[in-house]
Amino acid sequence: MRILVTGGTGFIGSHTIVELLGAGHEVVALDNLCNSSKTVLDRIETITGKRVPFAKGDIRDAAFLDEVFGSAHFDCVIHFAGLKAVGESVGKPLEYYDNNVNGTLVLLNAMRMHGVRSIIFSSSATVYGEAKTLPLTEDMPHGEVTNPYGRTKLIIEDILSDLYRADPSWNVILLRYFNPIGAHQSGLIGESPLGIPNNLMPYITQVAIGKLPELGVFGDDYDTPDGSCQRDYIHVVDLAKGHVAALKALKSSGNLQVYNLGTGTPTSVLELVKAFEKATGVEVPYSIKPRRAGDLAACWADASKAERDLGWKTQYGIEDMCADSWRWQRQNPEGYPEE
Ligand code: NAD
Ligand code: UD1
Repeated sequence: MRILVTGGTGFIGSHTIVELLGAGHEVVALDNLCNSSKTVLDRIETITGKRVPFAKGDIRDAAFLDEVFGSAHFDCVIHFAGLKAVGESVGKPLEYYDNNVNGTLVLLNAMRMHGVRSIIFSSSATVYGEAKTLPLTEDMPHGEVTNPYGRTKLIIEDILSDLYRADPSWNVILLRYFNPIGAHQSGLIGESPLGIPNNLMPYITQVAIGKLPELGVFGDDYDTPDGSCQRDYIHVVDLAKGHVAALKALKSSGNLQVYNLGTGTPTSVLELVKAFEKATGVEVPYSIKPRRAGDLAACWADASKAERDLGWKTQYGIEDMCADSWRWQRQNPEGYPEE
């Protein structure tokens, strides 16, 4: 199939492109590079031996999209493009709604105009809000979301569901990611956050390499086995393969499906620190800090629906995730080079 990957030079997009090429698909990457580097395309070429055509531009630019969709027929769009920093979204709600929600509307309109009606969307476990029971299953109702970023995911899920109800010839797959970490085993592509990382794994690797003095563990008094928060960390390569499996499952005519992409196994912050130290032999100094506002005590997936319907399940464990994140960090201490 020929796939348009929006956000294709980003963390998850780049890993997904590698897996798509490996599975024999043709890919065009689209990105405005607001949170990624064009160097990613060289790295993908080194890994796969293939140069991915690149459309540089913004999903909110209707004329640009018209050109992209006019240049070739696409069988499906995998839609990663979006802003994703939870804290930033609280201070810049309009920017988040414009980029993520308005951007998706412009994209959907361009797809409709060009007769492309298959989309796989990057949603998040954040749409479940505070869980009443764990693990989380896809049929649980949307929960209360505490920030604009999360709300953009809820709104886009609703827009895509309404679109499918209005025109059941659309094929929509909503993938709810849990906590993607790790990097490609080559160490050539990975997560390259700007400034001080907000998320746990990039913080750990930057402490390990000496860029930051110590990790703050946000709370050790949660109602969890060791008091620190539990999450469902998933290797980004497993997550990428989940998209290839979802593509295979796309029906030739209309469908709307929702899948959790997680491992089904919770890991606490303190357990992740220990696993990292074991996998890498590098000590990660930490101290206990107050709870972070808005954090949930625990969140993990029931991933059995994806296994049943898509024939997909994760292959990598927590120590693989740590070893691969560390390889990426060591080989690219400053992230991707400036072009
Ligand atoms: P990322 O920031 O690395 O990738 C997103 C890419 O989209 C970036 O390359 C950015 O430049 C591009 N982009 C943003 N706005 C754009 C626009 N208007 N037009 C064109 N390109 C634009 O993030 P990621 O971690 O790869 O996440 C990909 C998707 O998955 C996002 O939608 C994110 O919300 C979602 N998601 C991520 C996580 C996670 O933990 N990383 C968890 C759940 C969901
Ligand atoms: C966060 C977002 C979520 C988003 C996801 C992307 C919040 C509240 N949620 O999830 O919407 O989809 O990122 O990956 O921001 N931790 C520390 N010290 C640190 C950093 C994190 O102890 O320096 C802890 C956190 O308290 C949390 C766990 O590590 O318990 C994971 O944090 P993080 O990587 O930020 O992911 P989430 O909060 O699960």
